[in-house]
Amino acid sequence: MKLLILNGPNLNMLGKREKNHYGNFSLSELEENIQKRFSSRAELIFFQSNAEHELIEKIQQAKVDGIVINAGAFTHTSIAIRDALLSTRIPFVEVHISNVYKRENFRQKSFLSDIALGVISG
Ligand code: DQA
Repeated sequence: MKLLILNGPNLNMLGKREKNHYGNFSLSELEENIQKRFSSRAELIFFQSNAEHELIEKIQQAKVDGIVINAGAFTHTSIAIRDALLSTRIPFVEVHISNVYKRENFRQKSFLSDIALGVISG
């Protein structure tokens, strides 16, 4: 099984940004942890970008069995990322480090949840 682990805007700032929401670990520590835990079961491809079009291109080009995506703030704004995921028909799980349902109202709107296999938040 091949999985694409996609992280969107500002997730390169993990370990520095709002530690009360996102913890102390950096993105590379998070990726190493995922790699250690799951690489015996799946081939993992990691990608992070702050640019919407780069995430869309990665989704369009993906030849994988599944996508795990933390689209960051694009979750709440991006019909384009939704359309990219719909166009590939690759099953995906939406992930958030924080529990977006305990935060501001605008974070409770997701353009991805209703087409995701599942959502993990918090
Ligand atoms: C986030 C939650 C989003 O609302 C926020 O914009 C992020 C990170 C999370 O992982 O909790 O950048 O996706």
